[in-house]
Amino acid sequence: MAGRLMRAVVYEGYGGGAAKLKVLFFPKDEVLLKMEATSVNPFDWKMQTGRMRIDAAGEVIEVDEGVQNLKAGDKVVSVLSYGGGGGFSEYAVAWKALTVKRPPEIKLDGTAKPTNILITAASGGVGHYAVQLAKLGNAHVTVTCGARNADFLKSLGADEVLDYNTTEGAALMSPSGKKYDYVIHCTTGVSFSTFEPYLNRNGKVIDLTPGPRTMLNFVFQKLTFSKKQIAPLLVMPKSEKLEYMIELVKEGKLKTIIDSKHPLNKAEDAWAKSIDGHATGKIIVEH
Ligand SMILES: NC(=O)c1ccc[n+]([C@@H]2O[C@H](COP(=O)([O-])OP(=O)(O)OC[C@H]3O[C@@H](n4cnc5c(N)ncnc54)[C@H](OP(=O)(O)O)[C@@H]3O)[C@@H](O)[C@H]2O)c1
Repeated sequence: MAGRLMRAVVYEGYGGGAAKLKVLFFPKDEVLLKMEATSVNPFDWKMQTGRMRIDAAGEVIEVDEGVQNLKAGDKVVSVLSYGGGGGFSEYAVAWKALTVKRPPEIKLDGTAKPTNILITAASGGVGHYAVQLAKLGNAHVTVTCGARNADFLKSLGADEVLDYNTTEGAALMSPSGKKYDYVIHCTTGVSFSTFEPYLNRNGKVIDLTPGPRTMLNFVFQKLTFSKKQIAPLLVMPKSEKLEYMIELVKEGKLKTIIDSKHPLNKAEDAWAKSIDGHATGKIIVEH
C-alpha cells in the first residue's frame, strides 16, 4: 500500500501442508478496506474455502500509488477477487477496477433516498400507469390532476397531489417543498421555466407532449451542458417492455383503470371522449 506492499500468507490449492504456503505481496492498484458489510452468495458456500466472501461494503483505509480515483475515508462498494475473497474479515484488499464510491444516499440497510418524481396529468391514460410504475420503483411521487381525481391518485400510491386548477397547483411546487429529480410531463401548456425552480440540481423533465419550445430548450441545454434539462420522449414500444408490463399486470402490481367502454359501432363516442381531454384512465373500444 502506498509505498509499502502488504504481505499475506496464502495457499493456492488443497493439500501440501506448510510447504505449500507462500507469501504474496499485494500489487499496485489495490485498495485496503475496513469492512462494513458483506453478503452471502450461493457461490461462496458451493466453493467453501473459508475466505470466499466477495461482495463488500467498507471504508478505504489506504490506497496503492496506482490508485487515483479513491482515497482514505471514501465509502465504497467492491467486488473482492474470487481468489482472495476476504469479506468476512475486518479488513480486506480490493482491486481498484472493481471498487466504486458509495454515495451517502445509499444505505447499507437496503434503503436509498427515494427519487422524487412529478407526474403531470397523472389521472390520464398515460399518467395513471406512470404513477404506479414510479411507486413500484420506490419513488416519492407528486402528481397534478383535477380535484375530482385526487383520491383516485392517492389510491394508486401518489404521495402528494396538486390541483392544477389552483394557483399553487399550477405553480408545481410540491406541498412538502421537495424538489423533483424527474418530471414525467403528460400535458401541454407548461413551460420549462415553470418546472425549473423546482428541479433538483440535475433534474430532468421528460416531455411526452413536446412542441417547438421543448425542442429549442433541449438543443440549447445540450449545447450549454445544462444540468437541469428538458427532453422530448417518443415512446418506441419493444416487445420485452410489453412483456414486462403484462407480467406486472398478471402479478397484480399494475392496474389499468378504465374510464369508459364503447362498442365498435360507437367508436366516435370514444373518439370524442378522448378529444375532450378529461378521461380518468383509459378509454376502451370493444369489438
Ligand atoms: N410521447 C409519446 O410517446 C406519447 C405516448 C402516449 C401519449 N402521449 C401524449 O401524452 C399526453 C397524455 O396522454 P393521455 O392518454 O394520458 O391523455 P388523457 O388520458 O386524455 O389525459 C386526460 C387527463 O388529463 C388531465 N388533465 C388535462 N389537463 C391537465 C392539466 N393541465 N394538468 C393536470 N391534468 C390535466 C385530465 O384531468 P381533468 O379531467 O380533471 O381535466 C384527464 O384526467 C397526450 O398529449 C398524448 O398525446 C405521448
